[in-house]
Amino acid sequence: MKGYRKGLTNYGDPAFSAFIRGAYARGFGLTGEDLDRPIVGIAQTWSELNPCHRNLREVADAVKRGVTQAGGLPLEFPTISLGEVYLSPTAMLYRNLLAMDTEEMVRGQPLDGVVLLGGCDKTLPAQLMGAASAGVPAIAVSSGPMIGGRFEGKRLGACSDCRGLWAEHRAGEISEARLEELQGELFPSAGHCMVMGTASTMACLTEALGMMLPGLAAVPAVNSRRLRLAEESGRRIVRMVEESLTPAKVMTRGAFENAIRVLMAVGGSTNAVVHLAAIAGRLGVELPLALFDEISRTTPLIGNIRPSGKTYLMDDLAEAGGIPVVMKELEALLRRDALTVTGKTVGENLAGVTRAPAWQDVVLPRERPLQPEGGLAILWGSLAPEGAVLKTSAASPRLMVHTGKAVVFASQEDMVRRVDDPDLPATAESVFVLQNAGPVGGPGFPEAGFLPIPKKLLSQGVRDIVRVSDARMSGTAGGTTVLHVSPEAAVGGPLALVREGDLIRLDAPGRRLDLLVPEEELARRRAAWRPQAPAYDRGYGRLFLEHVLQAPQGCDFDFLQKAR
Ligand code: FES
Repeated sequence: MKGYRKGLTNYGDPAFSAFIRGAYARGFGLTGEDLDRPIVGIAQTWSELNPCHRNLREVADAVKRGVTQAGGLPLEFPTISLGEVYLSPTAMLYRNLLAMDTEEMVRGQPLDGVVLLGGCDKTLPAQLMGAASAGVPAIAVSSGPMIGGRFEGKRLGACSDCRGLWAEHRAGEISEARLEELQGELFPSAGHCMVMGTASTMACLTEALGMMLPGLAAVPAVNSRRLRLAEESGRRIVRMVEESLTPAKVMTRGAFENAIRVLMAVGGSTNAVVHLAAIAGRLGVELPLALFDEISRTTPLIGNIRPSGKTYLMDDLAEAGGIPVVMKELEALLRRDALTVTGKTVGENLAGVTRAPAWQDVVLPRERPLQPEGGLAILWGSLAPEGAVLKTSAASPRLMVHTGKAVVFASQEDMVRRVDDPDLPATAESVFVLQNAGPVGGPGFPEAGFLPIPKKLLSQGVRDIVRVSDARMSGTAGGTTVLHVSPEAAVGGPLALVREGDLIRLDAPGRRLDLLVPEEELARRRAAWRPQAPAYDRGYGRLFLEHVLQAPQGCDFDFLQKAR
C-alpha cells in the first residue's frame, strides 16, 4: 500500500480509517489527485534554537518543488532539532532521541519516502540512524556550511578560531574588547560550521555513503546551487520510491568503507568514528575500530582543510569540486560498486568527474598528499583495552611519541576548579587526564576532551599538551588529544584507575596508549573502585544511562541496533 492509505490509524474499521484520513487531508486543502501520489515526507529540523539550520525552510521549499515536479506529494513535518551550543549538558545526549523521533515518525506516518534536512553536528547522523531503521527510501539534504568570516585581513573558521582565539585570550594576548569584536565575525552567514568539523565531516560522509547527491555536501548554505541540488533531491526521492531504493541497499559495508576512506582523506572529525558505527549498527553492519585504523593507514590525507589543513574552509572545497573530486583522487581505493541515491554506483557517478584541478591546493593530488596516511589513528593498550582515537592530522608531531606524568582531573568540575591553580603539578611534559566524561560518566559523552592548557603553561608559551580522556572533542578542535578511551572510567575502565604522577606512554605510530603502573597496584585500585551515583534517575536521561553502548559501538542504545 502506498500514499495516504498506507499505515492506517487503528479505529477497528480500516475502511473508516481511510475515509476519515481522506476527510482530514481534504481539510488541509489537498485533493483526491494529491492523495493518489506517493507521499514524500520532509523531516524538518529548522528551529530558532539551531542557528546552523537557519536556511532549512528555504531548502524545504526547493525540495518540495522537486517532489511536485516528479509527481509526488511533499509533506513537511517537524522533528526535534539539536543545536550544538544550545543543548545542555551536550547535544550528544539527545542524538539517539532525534534518531528515535525520526525513525518512529517516518514509520508511523504514511510516508513512501523521506528527505532528511539536517546539518548541525548530531543531526545528520541521527537522521541516518532513524532512516536506516525505518527502512523507507531516504535522501539527505544538509543546510550547508557557512561562508568564512573575515577580520583584519584574516579569514576566520568557526569554530577552530573560536578555540584558538579563546586560548590566546586566556594567555592574555587578546583583550576583552577585541574578543567581543571577533565574536561578531565568527559566524557570518546561515549554515553549519565551515571548517572540517563534525557537521562538515558528516555531510561529506553522508555524500560518500551514497545518501546525498554528489557535490552537495560542500556547497555553502548561501549559494543558490544548494537550492538547485535540493530541488533535484526532491525529484530524485520520487524516483527512489519507484525503485524501492531503501537505505539498506545504499548503506552497505562497501559504502561504509568508502565513507571511512573519505573521512581519513579529508582529516575529518573524530566524532565520525562514533556516528558511523552507530549508523552501521542500525543495519547490522559491523565496523570495528581496527577497520578505521586499517583504512587510515592506506589512505593519503589530501583534504587541505582546517583544522587538519592550514588555510582552507568548506567554500574552498566546494570551489575545488567538493567530495566528488576527493573521491576521484581516491577512486582506486574505493568500493566503486556501492549503490548511491542517484540510482548509480560510485564508479558510475565518478565517470564524469575530473581529478583535482591544478590551479588549487585544497584537494591535493594523491601523489602529493599532506601526509601519506589518513588523519586518524586508533590506539590500544593497557589504558584503552577497547580502543581510543587520536586525530594525528591535528596533533603536534613532537608529541606523537611521548611519556609523561599524569595530571588527573576526576571530573569536568574538578578540571574547571583546578586547571588554573598555580600549584597544579603540571609541566609542558605532563599528560593531562580527564576521567568520567564518557557516554555514562559525562553524562552523554560531552565534547570535553580538548582540555584547556593551564594558564601557567600558557604564560610559558606552551600551546599544545597531551590530553587523554573518555570524552569526545569538537571536530573543529585540534591538539594532541586522545579521545573515546574505552571502556570509559564510569563503567570501571582502566582510565578510572589513573592517579596523579602515574606514567602514561603515548606511541601514535605504534598505536599504543599505556598506563605504566604494575598490575598488582592496578588490582588494588580496581578492588577499591566504586561507580559514581547515576546522573539521572528518571526520564530520557535514565533510559540513556541504562542502554547506551560504549564509543566503539557508536553509543547507540542497545535495543536499537539491528541484530547482527
Ligand atoms: Fe552547528 Fe558547529 S554549532 S555545526
